[in-house]
Amino acid sequence: MTNKTSICDLKDNVGKEVSLFGWLYNSRSSGKVQFLIVRDGTGLCQCIVERGQVSDELFDQIKRLGNESSLSVTGSVRKEERSVGGYELAVIDAKVICQTNDYPITPKAHGVDFLLKQRHLHLRSRRQWCIGRVRHTIIDAIRRFFNDNGFTLVDTPIFTTIAGEGEQTLFGIDYFGRPLHLTQTGQLYLESAAMSFGKVYCFGPTFRAEKSKTRRHLTEFWMVEPEVAYIDLPGLLELAENFVSFIARTVLSKHRSELETLGGDIASLEKIKTPFPRLTYTEAAEILTSRKTADFMKNQLEEFQTRKTELEKELADLEKQQSAGGKKWKMEKLASQIVDLQAELGELNVKIENNPKHAALAANFQWGRDLGGSDETIISLMHDKPVFITHYPGAAKAFYMKVDGENDKVVENFDMFAPAGFGEIIGGSVREDDYDILLDKIKHEGYDPASYQWYLDLRKYGSVPHGGFGLGVERTVAWITGEKHIRQCIAFPRMMDKVYL
Ligand code: 4AD
Ligand code: MG
Repeated sequence: MTNKTSICDLKDNVGKEVSLFGWLYNSRSSGKVQFLIVRDGTGLCQCIVERGQVSDELFDQIKRLGNESSLSVTGSVRKEERSVGGYELAVIDAKVICQTNDYPITPKAHGVDFLLKQRHLHLRSRRQWCIGRVRHTIIDAIRRFFNDNGFTLVDTPIFTTIAGEGEQTLFGIDYFGRPLHLTQTGQLYLESAAMSFGKVYCFGPTFRAEKSKTRRHLTEFWMVEPEVAYIDLPGLLELAENFVSFIARTVLSKHRSELETLGGDIASLEKIKTPFPRLTYTEAAEILTSRKTADFMKNQLEEFQTRKTELEKELADLEKQQSAGGKKWKMEKLASQIVDLQAELGELNVKIENNPKHAALAANFQWGRDLGGSDETIISLMHDKPVFITHYPGAAKAFYMKVDGENDKVVENFDMFAPAGFGEIIGGSVREDDYDILLDKIKHEGYDPASYQWYLDLRKYGSVPHGGFGLGVERTVAWITGEKHIRQCIAFPRMMDKVYL
């Protein structure tokens, strides 16, 4: 009997005969030898099939296999540094389980829309696989961090009765005739649990009817929210920076090769050490309207334009090679390089178009306005570590945030922006713990105080200073993997304008 082995365990089986069970990722043939790249969910392995080592019938059958055929291969393992994964299989037998010849996703590049329609298959791609692995580890690190630091998990409801983050982004539902909505945040419920357990967290899907088609917004995303009794703003910032640096460290220790495949910025992840820089909203506003920012935006535009000229030259060159014709594999490679460069050029053109608008928005930034996506991008581009922005104007923020003791125009809140232009990944605050102030804010918001009575009760029976924050999983995955759009960071994304399968 041969050993059923996973590709990730080949290192322990050098010289032994094993069987791999997987799918044909790619193949090429050079007459008497076929090179199969097999994937099994744990990695990729090159399998060499030589005529004479297997029956002629099997050799020919393998030759006809299209990508994503399922098969098992048996052979002996050898170390081969030049091969993907570092090991190879010298095949002596194989079994085709399901021959596939018309897999819709071909090595030539496809548009985003096509791939999202094929998401049920595209999940098998190298890129989606790497992102999925990193996401899994991020989620594991999130749970480990809180579980190891004395937090109790409390699952908050998905059908909710009150709004936490503004009524305009609620998804309403008809709950047996009673209007309820899908949760926007577990926070309000979690505050009640914090008064029982002290340190709690919830972790689940979150729904927002966001009318934004940006690369940062989904209508269904995953959020983890810790909530702590007896904590102040400095304590919350410390918790958040320890948490995020733990996540970065954990991913680095497990997924260097995935990050390399994805083009993630490993050097900058290695710099994620506490403490993170802290800016107040007022300081951020000063930065946005400063000469430094104007120059920064101008330099950026120049860099974009230089890159655009380079790209156009590279593209013209590749297209020339393409029209000269050649071997099939070479043409496929060229076509895929061209599509990649065209995609980069498309993104660059959008950046070139947006740059002056974003520069103008920043230059005319008025104290009191919430920081917008482009402001976040600018501040985050200026930092090589995550950065905290604290003390926003209360009028621009959620009703539950505690008014600052020294300046009643601002609240004791913070956002954390990931570096390199990724923007906000965390939002949090100290909560208003005074009954009368909170009641006023609820009324001011136009909410019905009767619906919030249980939430107000927490300020009546043993009220304590407390606070917490929420971290968006997909935005964190996007930042850590270097993926530009968060729709790639969840298996089946839901966007405002598009739900595919
Ligand atoms: O800043 P937000 O809205 O904060 C809250 O919901 C608080 N109640 C959290 C708390 O204090 N317990 O959302 C928190 C994070 C954001 O920083 C972002 O990472 C993510 O959730 N997020 C989204 N991610 C994807 N798509 C969206 N539409 C998102 N909206 C928020
Ligand atoms: Mg926010």
